[in-house]
Amino acid sequence: MADFFNEDTPHGWLKRVIYKKYLQAYVAKILNFNLNVVLIDGFAGEGRYGSEWRNEIESYGSPLIMIMVVLQFYCNFIDRKNQQTIGSTWTNLHETAIRRFMEELTEEGEEVRRPELVGIGKTYIYLVENKPKNFKALRRNIQLYLGSFFRSDVELETSERDKSVVIQVRHPQFPITISISRVTFDEFQRERFHNSKTLTILDPFGYSHTPMQHVQEFVDQTSEVLISFMSGFVNRFCRKNPGSVAELYGIDRPSGNLEEFLRIVRDNAKGSTAENPKSCTKSYIEHMKRRTGSAYAQFYEMRGKRNNVIYHLIHFANHDKALEAMKETLNTCTQYEGVFKMTDYKVLVEGIPLELGNAQNEEELARTIFGEYCGKTVKLVDVKNFVFEHTPFVFRKNALKLLEKQTDPKIINVVDSRNSTEKRRKWTYPDWGDWKLTFRGSDT
Ligand SMILES: C[S@@+](CC[C@H](N)C(=O)[O-])C[C@H]1O[C@@H](n2cnc3c(N)ncnc32)[C@H](O)[C@@H]1O
Repeated sequence: MADFFNEDTPHGWLKRVIYKKYLQAYVAKILNFNLNVVLIDGFAGEGRYGSEWRNEIESYGSPLIMIMVVLQFYCNFIDRKNQQTIGSTWTNLHETAIRRFMEELTEEGEEVRRPELVGIGKTYIYLVENKPKNFKALRRNIQLYLGSFFRSDVELETSERDKSVVIQVRHPQFPITISISRVTFDEFQRERFHNSKTLTILDPFGYSHTPMQHVQEFVDQTSEVLISFMSGFVNRFCRKNPGSVAELYGIDRPSGNLEEFLRIVRDNAKGSTAENPKSCTKSYIEHMKRRTGSAYAQFYEMRGKRNNVIYHLIHFANHDKALEAMKETLNTCTQYEGVFKMTDYKVLVEGIPLELGNAQNEEELARTIFGEYCGKTVKLVDVKNFVFEHTPFVFRKNALKLLEKQTDPKIINVVDSRNSTEKRRKWTYPDWGDWKLTFRGSDT
């Protein structure tokens, strides 16, 4: 792995586009509500690939992506307050920061100090990297970038044992604290803050450093996790290294009953007995949900050029809005990111590629919903969650309208189970009320 941060890969880039997009949605949602954001990167890496300082956020590693997205948010917030074009301050400062690596500028910082902004949350970023060389490089890259962005407003505190470094931005409009720890992820203990939401990114090389016992600490009512799950490795090493795989799944080491253990890991996924990476992932999700009470999980299959499964990206959350935000994020992913186009790659759900770029076919969504629910009565919210968790689609009410409006309707009854006196308009499914939909049987 000596060259990991020297040479970037297309699928690594794709993953980081997803991080960037989701972080942009997440950070804005939380900070705008005047809550604090906690971002944790359990396998941080160096923060940069190669030796260039590039403009595109996704060309950096996940820790710098976190920092850049947060800075971008605060800049946008300031722009909004000043009624400027959104993003102009960020772009100027970022580009100036990057330029400073190429040429020595003499004029002092472009940013203007203003009083502290009220009504906006603070950001705490925790980065965990156990390899001394990578830790050192990460620390330096962050100092260089922030130092160049702010010039004189970054303050650095180093803890006594030099196992962790705290970098604090002392600019009243950028309330950001970054802690970098040189420990292994399973040694890292999270801090909890009032009025905050936490997003943890876990991007290990393999599967043996993320025991469920520890990962589950990062999934709760106010905390989401995005984990790269090396399902192919797990599938392969199930028999060779059952101890590590058992820890990954939070299963006590099987006492001699290897077959039973393998069955639990591989067959736990409902409806699937196949020995394949996907069933390992589904099984993992089942185990995590059971242990954390996490209500929601979705996973994305990342495939390489030869259509091979590289890994599954799993998103655990306790709020349906989180799943919705992730799907919407992916749905708007076709913009050119420099010369990179996300549609060059495949992101799949249940074997079906996502229609990136708002290109979703709503008739296909309608067919998928009907296929799942024909002959049943279900809550509207369950239909929505099914779409977000188990299909490649973004939930759109228009698909329900298509099913109800046709000459041979497939939705035959829509009632508000709260018996509200308020009536819905025909072919609408309002957010108020507790709507139940009845789908006709397939051959009636
Ligand atoms: C796949 S890389 C992370 C890449 C990063 N997410 C990015 O976007 O650039 C994994 C990193 O985790 C580090 N690492 C490996 N085992 C670890 C452990 N047990 N705890 C913390 N970091 C670890 C490696 O040194 C490596 O830098």
